[in-house]
Amino acid sequence: MEVNVKGTFPDSFLWGGATAANQLEGAYNEGGKGFSTADMVKFVSRNESSGTNTETVSLDEVKHILNGDRDEEYYPKRWGVDFYHQYKEDIKLFAEMGFKVFRMSINWGRIYPNGDDEVPNEKGLKFYDDVFDELLKYNIQPLVTLSHYETPLNLAIAYGGWANRKIIDFYIKYAETVFKRYKEKVKYWMPFNEINMMLNLPFTAGGVFIENHDNELKTIFQALHYQMVASAKVTKIAQEINPDFKIGSMLGMSMYYPKSSHPNDILAAQYANRVNYHFIDIQAKGEYPNFTWAYLQKNNISLDITEEDLLILKENTVDYISFSYYYSLCVGASEDKSKRLIAFVPERGHDEFHPMKVANPYLECTEWGFQIDPVGLRVAINEVWDRYHKPIFISENGLGTIDMLGEDKTVHDDYRIAYLKDHIEQMKECVKEGVEMIGYTSWGPIDIVSAGTSERSKRYGYIYVDADDYGNGTFNRYKKDSFYWYKKVIETNGENLEGI
Ligand code: BG6
Repeated sequence: MEVNVKGTFPDSFLWGGATAANQLEGAYNEGGKGFSTADMVKFVSRNESSGTNTETVSLDEVKHILNGDRDEEYYPKRWGVDFYHQYKEDIKLFAEMGFKVFRMSINWGRIYPNGDDEVPNEKGLKFYDDVFDELLKYNIQPLVTLSHYETPLNLAIAYGGWANRKIIDFYIKYAETVFKRYKEKVKYWMPFNEINMMLNLPFTAGGVFIENHDNELKTIFQALHYQMVASAKVTKIAQEINPDFKIGSMLGMSMYYPKSSHPNDILAAQYANRVNYHFIDIQAKGEYPNFTWAYLQKNNISLDITEEDLLILKENTVDYISFSYYYSLCVGASEDKSKRLIAFVPERGHDEFHPMKVANPYLECTEWGFQIDPVGLRVAINEVWDRYHKPIFISENGLGTIDMLGEDKTVHDDYRIAYLKDHIEQMKECVKEGVEMIGYTSWGPIDIVSAGTSERSKRYGYIYVDADDYGNGTFNRYKKDSFYWYKKVIETNGENLEGI
């Protein structure tokens, strides 16, 4: 086999940007849309939240919100950055950069406002028809995530979200509706964004009010299993509706390094990394890894997993593997139980191998504490390629930071250019070694609301949106320096990373 040792990206390489409906669209109560889980997340300033994730909302809190007791609060994801009304202008800007692909999600609640409705909402379907048509007008392929942190709220309240097997059928109905409707317009699909996120954020990832469950670990693994089965089932349906569809898995990559060459640290990192492989094994190989079975047994967790489920998983693996990558992590072996990560440490009596997160002294952090590590992207790609040999799509990557719009109405974001350039360079190195890379969509090509902290001031975009954390501003769009840089990158198919 001939390997492309020069590291040139294939002509078909899909350059573009990635977003999610709840962070982008706004218009939470327009066009017949129902509330989604993301609409319940209020803004908490960085000082108050000390930069930590603010996404988890309890059932009790949701009831207060729906009751009108929290009307003084501001919920940024309800307003996004107004793509719902400005999508034509935004897509025109993406086209100017030369995008080949635009990753977006369909907000499930626009199609089935309550999740369990009998018939879909035509206005919601029409909105996405219009968006796809606008993209296709510029030869930009839509890549659609079916579920990106936006479960219809009713499914969370009335059914308990993904902790309930019934959700699989509602999800299938939704998927089937959009597969059929858009079968001529969309080729690339992802059933779930960052499917591993359920481990840390059950409300965000699956509308699960974890505080109402006695056995949290069991609930999380159960909900994950239902999402895995749902993903495999819609993969099957997708192929029946259009055999040209490409269905991909999507993982929030947590790449762990050992903090030292001490064997216990090496083992701790290996166990931490198995958390990634748990997901990709199921979606790309079609089976639960033995270390997961051992882990479940060890923790006395017996799940509702049927023979039929296992067969569905086995027979419906994904066409490509995608993951988001923002940083690498570092772990050491720890005996301190309170600081432990969820990890598949298999044997009883070997808790000394249990990983604990530590800072990597060789890496610098962003203002939000993300350890910047371009080489880590290469390590992650190589690991995934060596293990699965399926095409790889980097579906998110980027630098979230504060940007200042200057008097010249632009942002001189050389720091963003440097971050992206260093990461793309590492992708090239992978191509040189024979990895099959099919696309790269950097996160938030236009500034959007942060998933983790609901801030608008954490910006990733090539396009600046004039709006602050509380929604003050004109919402006008301005091109940053990185806009012209990325345009050049795409124009030269990644050959020229020096840019403007
Ligand atoms: C990923 C999510 O985890 O990271 C996105 O898929 C998210 O939805 C992105 O926006 C960046 O995280 P944040 O918290 O900086 O928005």
